[in-house]
Amino acid sequence: MNKKLVVAAFAALVTVSVLNFPAFSEGAKSAAELEKEKALKNPYPNDFGPDKIDVSGYTPEQQAGYKLLQDKCSRCHTPSRPLNSQFLQLKPEEQASMKTSNPEIFKDKLVWQVEDSIWQRYVKRMMSKPGCAIADADGRKIFTFLRDDSKKRKTGANAKAWAEHRKKLLAQFKEKYPARYKELFEAQ
Ligand code: HEC
Repeated sequence: MNKKLVVAAFAALVTVSVLNFPAFSEGAKSAAELEKEKALKNPYPNDFGPDKIDVSGYTPEQQAGYKLLQDKCSRCHTPSRPLNSQFLQLKPEEQASMKTSNPEIFKDKLVWQVEDSIWQRYVKRMMSKPGCAIADADGRKIFTFLRDDSKKRKTGANAKAWAEHRKKLLAQFKEKYPARYKELFEAQ
């Protein structure tokens, strides 16, 4: 092959890649943006609560998970959404012992939704969304934090304060978005 031809072929190849690239990256960007739009368009009672909590009494690992949450879980909605959620992750043996010590947490799913791997499942679901960009190791730290934090703030001596807080958010939400409240909690 002569040299000119090689140069021309190479230039053509570069042109094609450059021309294709913006279309490709625009496509990826709009998938992420659509996800963010979806997150903001469909509000949750959680969103009415604070986007920060006091973690000064938490272990360094838990604090690291909290920091990651503040950074990574704020791209499409605010950290209020996970921090004021009814999700409560408890192992089967913890659930068994709380049936006697904290029976109220099994009585209102809008305040406490108890499952043995709910945060794990939810963080994975968020990680699979376009534009989420959370590494596996960070995802693990975030769900470990959410698991420990939900147990700390929503059970034991804190169960009552949690219920008051969550019920207030539910009432505010129902008043402001009655149709969405119905869709989320009364449609099943
Ligand atoms: C790419 C955008 C995006 C990112 C990043 C994201 N979320 Fe979400 N989140 C959504 C959307 C959209 C919804 C609405 C429900 C759905 O589509 O699953 C949602 C809903 C939620 C809910 C409410 C679920 C319910 O049914 O009550 C929680 C809790 C939540 N996200 C936690 C998180 C956590 C924790 C992180 C960080 C690990 C995170 N989100 C990061 C888009 C995102």
